[in-house]
Formats: sequence, C-alpha cells, structure tokens
Amino acid sequence: MILITGATGYIGRHLVSRLAEQGERSRCLVRDPKRAAQILPTDKVELVQGDTLNATALQTAVHGIDTIVHAAFMTADRKESVGNHYENTNVRGTENVIKAAKEAGVKRIVEISGLGTRADKPGSYMQGRYLAEQTLKDSGLDWTIIQPSVLFGKGSPFIKGLTDLIRSAPVVPLIGGGKTMFQPIYVEDVVSVIMKVLEDPTRTSRKTYTIGGPEYYSFSQVIDLLLGTMHKTRIKAPAPTLLVGVGAAVMEAVLPKPPITKAAMTLFSFDNITDKQSIERDFGFKPVSFTDYLRQHGV
Ligand SMILES: NC(=O)c1ccc[n+]([C@@H]2O[C@H](COP(=O)([O-])OP(=O)(O)OC[C@H]3O[C@@H](n4cnc5c(N)ncnc54)[C@H](OP(=O)(O)O)[C@@H]3O)[C@@H](O)[C@H]2O)c1
Repeated sequence: MILITGATGYIGRHLVSRLAEQGERSRCLVRDPKRAAQILPTDKVELVQGDTLNATALQTAVHGIDTIVHAAFMTADRKESVGNHYENTNVRGTENVIKAAKEAGVKRIVEISGLGTRADKPGSYMQGRYLAEQTLKDSGLDWTIIQPSVLFGKGSPFIKGLTDLIRSAPVVPLIGGGKTMFQPIYVEDVVSVIMKVLEDPTRTSRKTYTIGGPEYYSFSQVIDLLLGTMHKTRIKAPAPTLLVGVGAAVMEAVLPKPPITKAAMTLFSFDNITDKQSIERDFGFKPVSFTDYLRQHGV
C-alpha cells in the first residue's frame, strides 16, 4: 500500500488518479477530508485526516504502508501565514513523516522536491527545501528524490499565475529582465516518472532525479507563448529583481493571495533547467512539448 502526502495538491491529485486508473488503491493523508472528497476518487482511495505537523495522525496514516510519496510541501507561491510556515511544513513536516515511517517499518520514501535546492541563508525557503532533502537522505530509509522544473497542464499553478496576470494587467513585468530559463514539464509526465520510480525501487533507490520537458524557454519566451495562445497583446516591462522583490514584500503584507511572493522570487535566481534528455535517458519516454501542448489545448 502506498501513502501519498499532499494528495490534494497539483501533483498529488494527478498521481492519485493515475494510481486509481491502474487499479492501485492508495491511502491519502489530507487536511480537509470534505474538500479532498471533491478532488479525489474517494471510491478508490482511503482518506486519513491529518497534518504532517501532527504526529498522532501520521501514526495512523503510515500503519501498514510500504512506500510513501511525500508531496505535502508549502510551495514558494504561497505566502506564510499563522500556522503555515515554510520551515514548519517543509522541514518539520518532513522530519515527522520520516520519524513516523521509521517507527512503522515503512521501507521507502519518494520525495517530490524541486530544481535548485541549495543550502541557502538560514530560515530561507530554499534552505528549507534543501534540509527536507538532506533529512531524507540521512534517514536510513530507502529514498528517491524527484526535482521537476515548473509544471504545465490544466490548472498548473505556474501557468495559472501568469495567465491571471496577463488577463488582469496591461503590463507584464519581466522579472530580472525575463532572462531566467525554464524547462516546463507536463504534469502527466511528472506522474509517469513517479510511477516508474515506484515500479523500479532497485534502480531508482538513493538517487535524485532532475527532470524537465524537451525544451528550454526564457521567462520572456514563456510570456510570449502565453500571449500568443491567449491572443492578447501586453507591454512587457523589464523589472529589476530588487524592485519586484520589494513589490512582492508589499503585496504579501496586504493581500491574502499575492500574485508573487518573496519566496517565489528565489525561482528567478537561477535557471530552472536540467538536461533536455533527462526523461528519455532515465525513464525511456518522450515528454510532451510545452509549445505543442499550448497549440492543442490552450492555456
Ligand atoms: N507545481 C509545480 O509547478 C511544481 C514544480 C516543481 C516542483 N514542485 C514540487 O512538487 C511538490 C508538490 O507540489 P504541488 O504543486 O503539488 O503543490 P500544491 O498544489 O501546493 O499542494 C501541496 C499539498 O501539500 C498539502 N499540505 C501542505 N501542508 C501540509 C501539511 N502540513 N500537512 C499535510 N498536507 C499539507 C496541501 O494540502 P491542502 O490541500 O490541505 O492545502 C496540498 O495537498 C512540492 O514539493 C513542489 O515544490 C511543484
């Protein structure tokens, strides 16, 4: 039996659906079962209510589990609020999952992380992601870490954030001049990678996989592609990272769901790319092209 944390999230819900389609019954740790029941195929999954910050709920969730797919993280596009802190959710939450797993005899954890994790400044978003990976590597459990570039697909948080911005503003800020590179990867391809990792524990054990789609795009090119697909024209204004950082801090202070957060700015501090052949080389299939997807499905 597989336990999925973060099952109601973007990657989690697609993974749960795929497992269900293949006749695999999974257990899902969810914070709000009513909401989860609207998102997940409840006839094919077992829901356990809980939070990774709550040890008792985790004990119930891990009972009889072989493998955990750990995707319960606070992503950079969410602002911190009371009870929701990057460090708590991402570092303490992961430590709690690992502790409960070890006590219950779980063999393996597959962690869904992101590109570019590094031992950054203490308390920073990136440091939290780095520590979440290190804790798993040092746990003594069997582990695999998957680090995708930004995701596309229906409702993808990255693309939705940009299309919302295009719809609502006459000017699109090109953070850092729009030069940061991305390698968008289709959500279903990320799920296929997770499935292959689950199917082949021996080959994928104790490995970190960086994955991305078949093409690189600068942030400016991503915006152009979205504008073209949406048949919209907007002014693209180069915006220095420092200036956007100040804007993000102000928006975080006043808006419940700011369009950009200080943590999300970190994603513009490095190129979010890996080898273009990463998926074919490691998992033997061709990932979907972002341009082809937009042509066929729209944004
Ligand atoms: N989406 C992308 O473009 C992308 C790209 C690269 C890497 N990733 C990585 O992939 C992983 C999953 O991302 P995602 O896009 O699926 O994230 P998401 O849509 O924001 O989902 C996060 C999930 O974690 C759950 N969660 C958060 N805090 C929790 C806690 N304390 N206890 C239990 N559950 C908790 C959320 O539950 P609720 O529904 O209750 O809030 C939700 O199910 C993350 O590590 C992310 O950084 C994502």
